[in-house]
Amino acid sequence: MRSINCLSHLSLIAGLAACVNGDITASGSNFSLSGAGVSYRFHVDPRSGDLISDHFGGPIDDFTDPATISNSGWSTGLDNVGTPGLTNIRREFPDIGRSDFRLPAIHISHANGDTVSAFTYQSHEVVQGKPSLIGLPATFGKEGEVTTLIVRLYDNYSDVSAALSYSVFPEYNAIARSFQITNNGTNNISIERAASFSTDLPNLDLKMLELQGDWSHEANRVIRNVDFGETGFRSTEGYSSHVHNPFFALHDPTTTETTGEAWGFNLVYTGSFAATAERFSHGFVRVLLGLNPLHASIPVGPGRTFQSPEAVAVYSSHGLGGMSRSFHDLYRKHLSRSNHTFETRPILLNSWEGLGANINESSLENLAQETAELGIKLFVMDDGWFGTAPYARTNDTAGLGDWTPNPARFPNGLGPYVDTVDSYSVANSTNDLAFGIWIEPEMVNPNSTLYHEHPEWVMHAGNHVRTLTRTQLVLNLGLPEVQDYIINAISNIIDSANISYIKWDNNRGIHEMSSPAADYAYTLGMYRVMDNLTGSYPEILWEGCASGGGRFDAGILHYYPQSWTSDNTDASDRLTIQLGTSLAYPLSSMACHVSKVPNGLNMRNISIEYRAHVALMCGSFGFELNPSELSDEERSAIPSILSTWEKINPIVISGSFYRIAWPGDTNWPAVQFVSEDTNTAAVFAFQQGAIIKPAAPPLRMQGLNATARYTSNAFNGTLSGNTLMNGGLNLPWKLADYQSMLVWLYKE
Ligand code: GLA
Repeated sequence: MRSINCLSHLSLIAGLAACVNGDITASGSNFSLSGAGVSYRFHVDPRSGDLISDHFGGPIDDFTDPATISNSGWSTGLDNVGTPGLTNIRREFPDIGRSDFRLPAIHISHANGDTVSAFTYQSHEVVQGKPSLIGLPATFGKEGEVTTLIVRLYDNYSDVSAALSYSVFPEYNAIARSFQITNNGTNNISIERAASFSTDLPNLDLKMLELQGDWSHEANRVIRNVDFGETGFRSTEGYSSHVHNPFFALHDPTTTETTGEAWGFNLVYTGSFAATAERFSHGFVRVLLGLNPLHASIPVGPGRTFQSPEAVAVYSSHGLGGMSRSFHDLYRKHLSRSNHTFETRPILLNSWEGLGANINESSLENLAQETAELGIKLFVMDDGWFGTAPYARTNDTAGLGDWTPNPARFPNGLGPYVDTVDSYSVANSTNDLAFGIWIEPEMVNPNSTLYHEHPEWVMHAGNHVRTLTRTQLVLNLGLPEVQDYIINAISNIIDSANISYIKWDNNRGIHEMSSPAADYAYTLGMYRVMDNLTGSYPEILWEGCASGGGRFDAGILHYYPQSWTSDNTDASDRLTIQLGTSLAYPLSSMACHVSKVPNGLNMRNISIEYRAHVALMCGSFGFELNPSELSDEERSAIPSILSTWEKINPIVISGSFYRIAWPGDTNWPAVQFVSEDTNTAAVFAFQQGAIIKPAAPPLRMQGLNATARYTSNAFNGTLSGNTLMNGGLNLPWKLADYQSMLVWLYKE
C-alpha cells in the first residue's frame, strides 16, 4: 500500500497546492472523492476546524457556496469563533454539545461525566489501496481499485483523537467509511454512539426505503417520507436481524428501478445497529448509520483505540437497479473474500425439510443415496446429528454446545458415515457425492454437557433470569475462552470427516447482557472465530444462516460467500424475499431450495417448474425435501431442472441482475440476468394469479445491447435489443395460478 503524505494543517491551508492522488483530490483541506458517476466532497471550516459536507451525488467539478440559512433563534452559536451555529451547517462528523441540536455521529462520555466533544481538523493523508480494519470485516482492494483518505481530528479539551477513513471505489460509485477514536488521556472514556457513516445532505425531497420483516418473511420493501424529525429503524436483537436489515436507500420521489437518483447505505456489521435520516428545521437531512446506542457504551481505556464498523454508501443516477448492481459488483469483488465467491456452487439436497431432526445413519444413507441417484452433487445433513444421552439432539431442547456425533445415531462416528456418503456416484456425472453438515456453534441448550460445565459462558446479566428462545441460550463470544472452544470444537468436526460444506446457523436473538458493550465484544469475537475457521479451511463452502435470513448482512458476506435467505421456502413468498434482499446483496450470495408441496409453512401448492425457477435465481441452488415424496411428474422434471441449473448458475454467480417487475407491484413479476460477457441474458418471468383481464403488460427487458439482435427460446428469428427493451415480449400465459417461464436471449 503506497501512502502519499498530503499532510497539512489549518495554518498551512492557504499555502498548499492540490494533492491529487488517484480518485481523491486534497486541495489544502478541501477533499474530493470521485468515481465514474459520483462526487463526494467535504472541506474543513477554516474558522472552527469542523468538517463540512459539501456534496454526495452525481459528478461535480467545483465547490460552491452553502445554502443561506437565517442564523437566528436558538440555532445560533459559536459566536466566539465567528461561525454560524453548527446546527445550521452541513457536517461530516457531528459531535455533541457545540450548538448542533441534531443527532451526533460520535457521542463520547468522559470520565468527569460530560459528553461534549470538539473535534477539529489536524491533518490528512491519502493512501493507495485500502488499509484493513483490525478485527472487523470490511471492503478491500488494491492500488488502482480503491484510494483512501484518512482525516485526523483532535479534541484538545479531552485528549481524544479521531481518524476518519474514506475509501472510494470509483468503478462502483461507492464510498466506504469507518473511523477510529483514540483515548490519549489518562481516564477511561465511553463510546455512547458511533455512526460509521454520517453526512448531511441538502434540503432535498427524499424517500427512505428499508427492508422490514420477521422470521419467514424477511426483506419486505417499506418506503416512507423523510420528514422533519427522525426517520429510521434499528435492531436491538444483538444481530442485524430479520426485523430490519442494516441497509437503506434514500431516493427522489420520482426514482424508479431504472431512472433517478438513489443513495444506498449498508453497514458491514452483524451486531445491533441504528439507521436514521434526520431532517431539521432548515430541511437538511442528516444520514447516520452505525452502532445502536442501546448496545454501545463501549469503554476505551487510556492509550486504547475504538474501531467503528465500516459502512458503504453507493450513489446511483440510474435508479434503484443501478444502486443494487453497484452493491452486487462491489461486494462480489471487494467484500466477499471466499475462494468460492466466483465459483459455481454445487447443487445440493438438505435433509431438514425432508427428515427434520429425526435422523439416523440409515435414514441419512437412504437420503444420500437418493440424492446421488437424482444427479445432485452435495448432500447436507442438517440438525439432529450430535449430542450424547441424556443430552442427545433428538429435538430442539437438548444438545447444542456438545459438538460430537450422537453415538446412538452414528455408532461408528462421523468419518465412516461420510465415507459411505462419498462412495455414492452421482448419476450422469463423474463425481462422487460430496458431504455437508449443519452446525450452530454460537448457542447452547441448558440441557447440554457444555452448559453444565460452563454456565458462566452464556450471555447473562448478573442474577437475572437467563431467558430462553427455542430452549437455548447464547454463548458469550466476547470471551476468548468461548471463541477458542468453538474454534477447537468445529475444527475437530472438520478434521474427523471429509466435509466440503458447512451451514453455520444461529437461531435466537440476544436478551440479557452483562453490559450494553457486550454486543460489540460478542460481534468482534464472532468475527475472530469466523476469520480463524475460514482461514484454516478455505476450501470448505461456508454458508451463513440465522433462522433463515436473520443475519443476511455484509459482515457475514465478508467471511461466507452465501447465506440461507429464509426459512420460508414457499416459492411465491420467496420471490418477495429474494427481490427485497437483492436491493443490497448479490443473488450469487443467496441460498435457495426447492421444497415439497403443499408447503410446510403456508400449505400453498405450486408447480415444480415455478419452484425451481424461483430457486434457480440464487447462487446456491438445491432441494430441501425427501425425494421419496416426489410425485412422478415432479421426479420427471428434475433432469431438465439440473440442466437449466448447469446453464444458469455461472450467469447468476458473475452476471448482472435486473429487477424488471416486483411481485408487490404486479401480477407478473420478472427478473433478468445478463452474463458477464453480455452475450446471454436469462429472464425469469412469473404469473402469480389466473386473471382474465387485464392483459399482462409486455415483458420489457433491461441491460441489453440496443442495436444487437437476439435469438431466443421464446420467439422465432431475431429481435433487436431496442425491440426487447422498449417494445418487450408478450408471453403466452395460460389462465392458471403460479405460472413461470424462463426466456433465454442470445446475442447474434
Ligand atoms: C433453522 C434454520 C433451518 C434449519 C433449522 C434446524 O431454523 O434456518 O434451515 O437448519 O434451524 O434446526
